[in-house]
This record gives sequence, C-alpha cells and structure tokens, in this order.
Amino acid sequence: MTVLVLGGAGYIGSHTVDRLVEKGYDVAVVDNLITGHAKAINPKARFYQGDVRDKLFMREVFDKEDIDTVIHFAAFSVVPESMSNPLKYFDNNTYGMTALLEVMRDAGVKRIVFSSTAATYGEPKQVPIKETDPQIPTNPYGESKLSMEKIIHWADVAYGIKFVALRYFNVAGAKADGSIGEDHHPETHLIPIILQVAQGKRDKLTIFGGDYPTDDGTNIRDYVHVMDLADAHILAMEYLKKGNDSTAFNLGSSHGFSNKEIVDAARKATGKPIPAEIGPRRAGDPAVLVASSEKAKKILGWTPKYDDMEKIIATAWHWDETHPNGYNDR
Ligand code: UFG
Repeated sequence: MTVLVLGGAGYIGSHTVDRLVEKGYDVAVVDNLITGHAKAINPKARFYQGDVRDKLFMREVFDKEDIDTVIHFAAFSVVPESMSNPLKYFDNNTYGMTALLEVMRDAGVKRIVFSSTAATYGEPKQVPIKETDPQIPTNPYGESKLSMEKIIHWADVAYGIKFVALRYFNVAGAKADGSIGEDHHPETHLIPIILQVAQGKRDKLTIFGGDYPTDDGTNIRDYVHVMDLADAHILAMEYLKKGNDSTAFNLGSSHGFSNKEIVDAARKATGKPIPAEIGPRRAGDPAVLVASSEKAKKILGWTPKYDDMEKIIATAWHWDETHPNGYNDR
C-alpha cells in the first residue's frame, strides 16, 4: 500500500516524504514543480510530475499506484501574493481540492491528511487558538484553505472520505543533516529572509509594522520545526488508518515569538549582526497567531522535539551554509 504525497517536492512535503521513507512507508509523489524542487524528493519515492487540477493525469497516477492514503501539500501559500492575486489561490487550492476529491472518490481512496493553516482563523479573539475557535480569515490564502476544509467535510458526509486537516502555524528549519531545506522563489518568509541577510544576500531586514498591539509592537507568530510537522502528518495518517473520525488539529509550539525576538534569536544562532529596520505593515497580517496544540498532543500523541527557537533557526542556517543557492535549479 502506497502513501501518495501531493506537493512532495515542496518545503514541508519533501521533509514529510523523507520521514515517510525513513519509517519504511512506500511513497509516491505528485508535484507540478511550479514551486517545488525535483532534487528535494527522496529518491526512494516514485515521482510523477503533474498538476492536481489535471484529473486525467491524476486518474492515471491512481490507476498505477495502490494508494491507501493521500497527504496533500500541493497548494500556494504566500499570504501577500494571495492579497494581490486571490483567484490564483482559489483556482489552485480550492478547485485543486475539488478535483482531487473527485478522483479519490472514483478510485475508492478514503483517507486524506491535508495542510490547512492558522490563517483560517484570521485575527483571533483569544490566544492560544483552539481548533473550535471561529475561523474568519483575513486573507484569500486563509479563505482558500478554509474552503478546502469545508469541501472535504461534505465529501466525508457524502462519500465517506475521512480527513485530518492540520492547521499549521509558522513552519521553520530544515532536516538536521542539511540535506533538504527551504528554497522559495521569491522568498517571502521571515526566517529565510533573515538568513539571507546573515548570508550577505540582502543588506537588511524590513520588519513589517512596529505599531501592533504587542509588547514590542511587532507581530507575534508561533514557530514549529518542519521535521516535527512531518512527524505529525504520519501520526495523522495512522490516526485515520485506525478508523478514527475526521477532525482538525492545530500544529504549533504554543509559544509566540515577536518578529524582533526572531531577529535576536537568528543573531545568536548565526553569530551575524543582521541589520533590521521597522517598515510599514504588510496587508493581511494578523497581529498575533499562537496555537494551542494540546489536542494534537493528546489525541495523536504528537511530541515536538524542537522547542528552542535558536535550535530551529540553526537547522535552517546549516541548510543555507551548505546550500548557499538552495537546490540551484532556478
Ligand atoms: N515579516 C517581516 N519581514 C519580512 C517577511 C515577513 O517583518 O521580510 C513578518 C510578517 O509581517 C509576519 C511574520 O514576519 O509578521 C511572519 O511572516 P511570514 O511571511 O514568514 O509568515 P506568515 O505568518 O505570513 O505566514 C505563515 C505561512 C502561512 C501560514 C501562516 C500561519 O506562510 O502559510 O504562517 O501562521 F498560514
């Protein structure tokens, strides 16, 4: 039986594929390589290049492979881009899910673990955020992921496709041996941008907004290490295989770091000065996003191994130092 990983050449997907292979699962990957990297895919996984929206192509993959569970990462995930180009997000993310579920239904595949996001909550009324809290996204990216959660719920009701929606908070770091890591074009995420400054690829970091209602005025986010996230996907898949019901889990560290605190942690992890200045706010940014991950810990038995921000950044820095041009394929 095979685990099909959609978006397995992307940042989180490739780390999860690697972990699955390490644990002895048989893995197939689908990725259109728009943002992913073929070099990031563990060579023990079979790779099919194509798009989840292409139902003909997807039906062929489902025909060839004996698929037991789908893990779905194949989505666009950049908040600011979604603000300027929302339809791109509703097409790839929302329509992509509809197309996938149709193929899964026809192939009789009844289990899916998929990447949702903290961005489905919008501006929280309270932190830490619980899975039962209201979901009112403040950007089209979050809205597209919320619509995916809703569509899959109705696919469960109608066709019995069981799902786990994993609502990630901010993901960071790289596999400790530095063999795979984060490589986005363009890069928009805070930690990789900070590390580009440390590498001398950028002059300075601009922190988006210094007048938020937080202690130091900068946004607060909850960071989780990408390998811990990979483990959570495998636990979620096993949870479904045991016949448990569809549900959603937050995945974070339950601890918030302000953007300024992240810069300080990166200065310590890299030993570099990392010049930073405060600039205007970025559209669509909630002030504070911190998860309660108690449900994942209790029900999935998830125990994140990385609980130290400097150590998380150190793994990303190791990747950057050993791969100054990332996968070098763009
Ligand atoms: N930031 C800066 N300067 C930069 C880049 C980012 O100050 O050059 C700030 C942002 O304004 C924000 C914080 O750093 O306050 C984190 O921003 P990222 O772009 O790294 O991440 P986001 O919080 O916007 O989004 C990430 C994922 C989403 C996910 C969200 C949930 O990219 O997919 O976390 O917490 F939904």
